[in-house]
Amino acid sequence: MTPFQGSAQYVATPDLMLAVNAAVTLQRPLLVKGEPGTGKTMLAEEVATALQMPLLQWHIKSTTKAQQGLYEYDAVSRLRDSQLAGADGAERVKDIRNYIVQGVLWQAFTAEQPVALLIDEIDKADIEFPNDLLRELDRMEFHVYETRETIRARHRPLVFITSNNEKDLPDAFLRRCFFHYIKFPDAQTMQAIVDVHFPDLKKELLAAALKSFYDVRNLPGLKKKPSTSELLDWLKLLVAEDIPVSALHSADDKVVVPPLVGALLKNEQDVSLFEKLVFMQRQNR
Ligand SMILES: Nc1ncnc2c1ncn2[C@@H]1O[C@H](COP(=O)(O)OP(=O)(O)OP(=O)(O)O)[C@@H](O)[C@H]1O
Ligand SMILES: [Mg+2]
Repeated sequence: MTPFQGSAQYVATPDLMLAVNAAVTLQRPLLVKGEPGTGKTMLAEEVATALQMPLLQWHIKSTTKAQQGLYEYDAVSRLRDSQLAGADGAERVKDIRNYIVQGVLWQAFTAEQPVALLIDEIDKADIEFPNDLLRELDRMEFHVYETRETIRARHRPLVFITSNNEKDLPDAFLRRCFFHYIKFPDAQTMQAIVDVHFPDLKKELLAAALKSFYDVRNLPGLKKKPSTSELLDWLKLLVAEDIPVSALHSADDKVVVPPLVGALLKNEQDVSLFEKLVFMQRQNR
């Protein structure tokens, strides 16, 4: 398989490419962590496109159970059909397979061609969830009790698992994954990411905006640091509102509260912390 090298829409650092290719070689799930908005979900989409694999996505919520990814038995429909159905319906009711609803893993295992599978935000589910999937992800098979069949993967799917670190994952689960932490992009990588999204942005505006962004981000004590996706939103607004470069810093090059700061700072404590810093700088000069 051709190794992953990033794409026209997605900037991958060398260590990220290495991690993707390591997971492909090992045939183990790639567990991706990183701050919100650092491109974890998008990575799976981009790798799937680059390797020309269909991508099946499973977005995890607090109520998601591992079993739902395998299959669910729809007993309610079967009961209803058995009460209401005429002759055709009776045929349908007899065969329990008509009431087995396939989950994402089932679809991934039985797909004609190798697929990529994204298990997004695994840390949202309860603590049992990763443990319940150990065997399925390891052996790539599971048993359907209702029909007494075993579903085996025709091709091992390329699995991506993302986590925002809200809960720790069990050791037994970690053992089976290749791990990569997407570090917050350094200035150079960030520049490349912005270029991908806004190829026509004026150099001066970009430089000033990036400086402002890192000033905000490096403020000690922030409750929520703005991330890549927030920078991109903010730049979009700056362009749309036609904000001049001069609005981003004062004449003497001191920090100012940037316009439309609501795209970057998402709670009032952080905004007032930043305002205090600007105020103190003004006092000092
Ligand atoms: N390396 C990158 N190259 C290009 N765009 C990126 C990159 N990283 C992030 N982005 C941009 O940031 C947006 C957010 O990315 P994504 O949704 O994948 O983040 P995430 O890490 O999954 O966040 P969350 O943890 O909140 O789900 C993307 O839609 C993309 O526009
Ligand atoms: Mg995501």
